[in-house]
Amino acid sequence: MSTKSTRSGAAGSAAAGFRGRTISVVRDLSVDEQVYLYEKTRRLKAALRDRQDVSEFRLNRPELGVYLFFMEDSTRTKESFRNAAKFHNVKVNDFIAEHSSFNKKESITDTIKMLVGYSDQSVFVVRSKLEGVCRWLEAAIGEYAVKASLPPVSFINAGDGRHEHPTQEFLDEFSFLERLDWKREQIHLALVGDLFHGRTVHSKVDGLRVFGNVRVDLVAPEEIGMPAHYVDQMKRNGFEVRLFASIEEYLAQPSVAKIWYFTRLQLERMGDQLRDKEALFRQAVTFQSGYLSKVLEGTKFFHPLPRHSVTPTIPPFLDRTSLNGWDEQSMNGYFTRIIELGLVGGKLGSDFNGTERTIREFSDDFVIEAPVGAARKQDYKIGIKPVENGMVIDHIGKNSKVAEIWNHIGKIREILGLDVVSSQGVFTSQRDSDAFKGLISLPDIRPFDERQIKMLGAIAPGCTINIIRESRVIKKYRLAMPPRVYNLPGISCKNEDCISFPGHHEPIQAEFYRSEESAFVCRYCEKPHEFKEIW
Ligand code: NCD
Repeated sequence: MSTKSTRSGAAGSAAAGFRGRTISVVRDLSVDEQVYLYEKTRRLKAALRDRQDVSEFRLNRPELGVYLFFMEDSTRTKESFRNAAKFHNVKVNDFIAEHSSFNKKESITDTIKMLVGYSDQSVFVVRSKLEGVCRWLEAAIGEYAVKASLPPVSFINAGDGRHEHPTQEFLDEFSFLERLDWKREQIHLALVGDLFHGRTVHSKVDGLRVFGNVRVDLVAPEEIGMPAHYVDQMKRNGFEVRLFASIEEYLAQPSVAKIWYFTRLQLERMGDQLRDKEALFRQAVTFQSGYLSKVLEGTKFFHPLPRHSVTPTIPPFLDRTSLNGWDEQSMNGYFTRIIELGLVGGKLGSDFNGTERTIREFSDDFVIEAPVGAARKQDYKIGIKPVENGMVIDHIGKNSKVAEIWNHIGKIREILGLDVVSSQGVFTSQRDSDAFKGLISLPDIRPFDERQIKMLGAIAPGCTINIIRESRVIKKYRLAMPPRVYNLPGISCKNEDCISFPGHHEPIQAEFYRSEESAFVCRYCEKPHEFKEIW
């Protein structure tokens, strides 16, 4: 049994070229594509500053619609996208969520389906507190656009909950590159502030891959520190990562970075318990005048903005110092976003000749035929009677706790509809008397088809299926961890802010893919789950 299914991590979009692409996360552009974006931006910025002709960058398509779909507050991101769209001479539409039937719990897909009919190509710039919304819209609307022969529709994530903020990341990296005179060999930077809730720092995990040698110092009290799965991913990306609880602690050691990236405390995303500690957190991550002497010559501070108006982590006394990198950084949002719209709009990209993003491949080779012991008679039983013909599912939940195995057995029966004459049990393993396994005996049942076997593999990885004829096992399959779990009743993402979490707007089928570390990562919000958690 070895079928292979391929699906783009960005289903529904063109495999090659930039036109109609969705940018939901930083990885939706390959490193080469990101570098291409920065180089184009650099040329555009210089041309605009020198008042040269910039028509080579301009879409100039009044029938292309750019929709600003902001369901959370925004000033810089929204206005830079609005101005970037105006640069292109396209239709710019504001979608005012508060005044729409969104408050009547209208489905987002219905609204967008209607809007895509109004333009000869559409780009939606979406900010939402729901994570993974662009990934899902790309799939849902992409499929609709293909069926209805509509031109491609792009979704650009302008910040989704605590997840990612790819276009902020592109302007941040562009600003770092400017700072480093366009040398990409190495970067050493400090990320300071609320690293737990800040989506702009989460996007750095992938955005910093444009640099060869990356050293990242994470400066935050533990409670608002970088989530472990992002730290792990940084390490897997080959970054050297160090952790510090405060700026004071950071400055007390010799190797201090010259690029500091601050974020504000994301109070609106904190629960009461964390908010009670605001003063402590602020103390730890606010720059104080006493630190100035310890900062290295040539250091620049960056910040995605906004800063807190009363107690900002970069206080106003620094505004007129050479540390101020954030003003220029904020202007870069305009230039990078012009190029992003030019790319997905199809004006730019024809001279790109680097490596494209990788399209995820899902192999279904997790059903492995196992050798059957020669003439050995098996004594699988139904109750006390040996199974003569039928199937036995063995090694269910191997090495789990007894209660978990019973639970698993229940799930298997429920999902595969095994309401037939049969028996089941939890036993000690033959090889190790301290370990347990579950077993379901199914006499006189037709062997499972491929789909049922895959479903079983998704529910009970590690189990074996024994096909029995005349009391002997004639075939045996071992089911490894599936690379993808989807289209099954009863599975759900456990992140309440995920677009696929039950009860948010539309009924979305949960979907997970297995990471290299055997975590099951939600297709939408990318939260890693342990296998058992998704059921
Ligand atoms: C950031 C955001 O929205 O995540 N701001 C921005 O886009 N300029 C950072 C923040 O809100 O703190």
